[in-house]
Amino acid sequence: METRGNEDKEGTLSPEDLSEMLAAGTKEVHEKAENTQFVKDFLRGRIRKELFKLGAVALYYTYTAMEEEIERNKDHPQFAPLYFPVELHRHEALARDLEYFYGPEWRNQITCSKATQNYVDRIHQVGREDPVLLVAHAYTRYMGDLSGGQVLKKVAQRAMKLPPTGEGLEFYQFDGIHSAKAFKQLYRSRMNELELDMETKKKLVDEAVKAFHFNMEVFEELEEIGKTIQEDVLDAGMPVHGAMDGDISK
Ligand code: HEM
Repeated sequence: METRGNEDKEGTLSPEDLSEMLAAGTKEVHEKAENTQFVKDFLRGRIRKELFKLGAVALYYTYTAMEEEIERNKDHPQFAPLYFPVELHRHEALARDLEYFYGPEWRNQITCSKATQNYVDRIHQVGREDPVLLVAHAYTRYMGDLSGGQVLKKVAQRAMKLPPTGEGLEFYQFDGIHSAKAFKQLYRSRMNELELDMETKKKLVDEAVKAFHFNMEVFEELEEIGKTIQEDVLDAGMPVHGAMDGDISK
């Protein structure tokens, strides 16, 4: 776990800084997200490829919506300092991942699920009606991707025996970022430099909590779909005892 203290331009951070409010305000829901069954299974390397592909599809629709709204609002003074398309944007990486998994006709083979559509609708609504709230959506996804991405990439690569060249996992690879830690610090200081009153900062925390919930609803939906998919569970190498229930924690 890295430290966050005393790292902005002036050398101090206060609890009223947006980065601190977001971190504190989403701590509880972050723990909930980490503890959803889908996420726990993923971390254990118990990833069914068909489900992983559907997860990539959900991310594709989510990032397409988010980056469309970011482009629309890239000159908005309350978003512009967070505009890092080269470093962060995932739309094209996800399109390449989907092409790898579904082939050249991938666009005709995917649909937007219900939980994903709810998330997408909220992103578009925010982008059109209250663009400052896009900060919360960008924070929730990009900061999360930069935090856990490398671990998730390795787990997925190993569990699904994907090529070491990184095909199918471009989403997890941020070629424009050399140090995730340094970039996260830059992003936090940019968030803290936005001119926002306390009421707006509180709205942003609420919106980030909502964004976590949208993500959890997508995980829960995937979990439900997973129950209906008949496929061998690919395992990252942990021996599974008790084949009756398949729970390695027992
Ligand atoms: C940050 C772990 C799932 C969003 C982090 C950090 C870790 C972590 C270690 C770094 C904290 C720091 O920088 O001090 C995990 C694990 C997860 C998980 C193990 C389960 C697989 C998620 C999910 C989301 C998310 C599902 C949202 C969709 C975030 C955000 C941050 C973060 C926004 C930045 C917090 C901040 O510094 O303000 N996570 N995470 N994480 N994660 Fe996660």
